[in-house]
Amino acid sequence: MEPNQDDDDAGVDESSPQEEMITTSTHHFGDGDDAFSVTIIESMKEEYGLFVWPCSIILAEYVWQQRSRFSGANVIELGAGTSLPGIVAAKVGADVTLTDDSNRPEVLDNMRRECELNNVTCKVLGLTWGVWDEPIFTLCPNIILGADVLYETSEFSLFSFYNSLPQQKWASPD
Ligand SMILES: C[S@@+](CC[C@H](N)C(=O)[O-])C[C@H]1O[C@@H](n2cnc3c(N)ncnc32)[C@H](O)[C@@H]1O
Repeated sequence: MEPNQDDDDAGVDESSPQEEMITTSTHHFGDGDDAFSVTIIESMKEEYGLFVWPCSIILAEYVWQQRSRFSGANVIELGAGTSLPGIVAAKVGADVTLTDDSNRPEVLDNMRRECELNNVTCKVLGLTWGVWDEPIFTLCPNIILGADVLYETSEFSLFSFYNSLPQQKWASPD
């Protein structure tokens, strides 16, 4: 099995400072009949959530390696950002809800674009840790994914949030 490879493709238009910041990376999974690639749209301008953090590449590979567990599972990804692990989970047959801070519509919009680009259907939900909006209580995940979400000590609301969900498994390389 080949390891993940990141291939940075070219920026879109060198004449525009805004568009110069946009790039894509392509991530490959498997080398047999069931192999596939995921393309992620990244913005180098933003700090969080709009480019791929290293943990997310590792977690995506974990999802691929464990694909039989993910097939048919109800999965949510917290702080998904560019959503590579969640998109891989959708590719291997999971029912996936991608979530990120509801105050960051640009991140949520980018998730929708990525789902379209990679031909997967995922729910996209604004979900801020520690904010108890009604949609949270309709989520009944079997598996919760989180990559690089434990970097801020002030964000311990993530733990109480995680504990409140009726999940069965937690998968994070952090
Ligand atoms: C370091 S980035 C990791 C992004 C992605 N999981 C990855 O590994 O590429 C942290 C992510 O958590 C999200 N985040 C930060 N604080 C949050 C909060 N209070 N509620 C929900 N999401 C939050 C950010 O918007 C960002 O997408």
